[in-house]
Amino acid sequence: MSLVIKWFDRSRVALLILVISIAAACERSPEQRAKIETQTFTVKAVVVSVDPDAGKITVDHEEIPGYMSAMVMSIAVRDPAILSDVRSGDRIEFELLREGSELLITRINVTESRSKGEAIFKANCATCHGDRGQGTKKGIPLTSGHALAHSEDEHIGQVRDGKRDKMPPFRDKLTEDEIRAVVKYVRDTLQSGVTDSDRKAHHH
Ligand code: HEC
Repeated sequence: MSLVIKWFDRSRVALLILVISIAAACERSPEQRAKIETQTFTVKAVVVSVDPDAGKITVDHEEIPGYMSAMVMSIAVRDPAILSDVRSGDRIEFELLREGSELLITRINVTESRSKGEAIFKANCATCHGDRGQGTKKGIPLTSGHALAHSEDEHIGQVRDGKRDKMPPFRDKLTEDEIRAVVKYVRDTLQSGVTDSDRKAHHH
């Protein structure tokens, strides 16, 4: 009987030693931890969607030289608060921290805001073109008819220089960047359902 207990005890001790040594092997020493490669990248991207609840942002990013080719991916942010001014469609520059295989966005800079274009439109264009670009008595619709026929550069020119006497020129009221942003808003948001063949069909 006592022999059985002794055997049982010894195997228990052996098991304990085994468990401790496995745990010790798994625990990384500080030197080993430093070996996990840490890199930061500054990356340009267009925002596809923002999910503050999950603390994630989906971006269509440019190539990250030496690390990753251009692609659409969802990345966690260090602090969801940095997403508060970011909207889908915005152009951003973000700081990406890579620790081993973990990726984390630590900072976001909005370089071209889609909401900026919207604000400019509401303040300068909606009185004549309507708040959704549907047109009013004073301004033609921008979502149908020949407003669809023009290229982005032509639209920029029309807003900068005006058109005949009814469409006022904005070159003294808005900067070139602001004109670009408002035209982008008209084309990407108000005309979002417009296809290339719609544009061609209205060409004249
Ligand atoms: C005072 C009223 C008025 C305001 C303000 C105004 N527009 Fe216009 N816009 C017009 C009229 C009218 C036309 C049609 C001109 C024509 O074809 O003779 C026009 C034409 C245009 C066109 C050309 C469409 C085409 O097919 O030729 C674009 C683009 C445009 N406006 C964008 C804008 C934007 C962007 C703003 C604000 C920055 C703006 N407009 C502000 C009245 C206005």
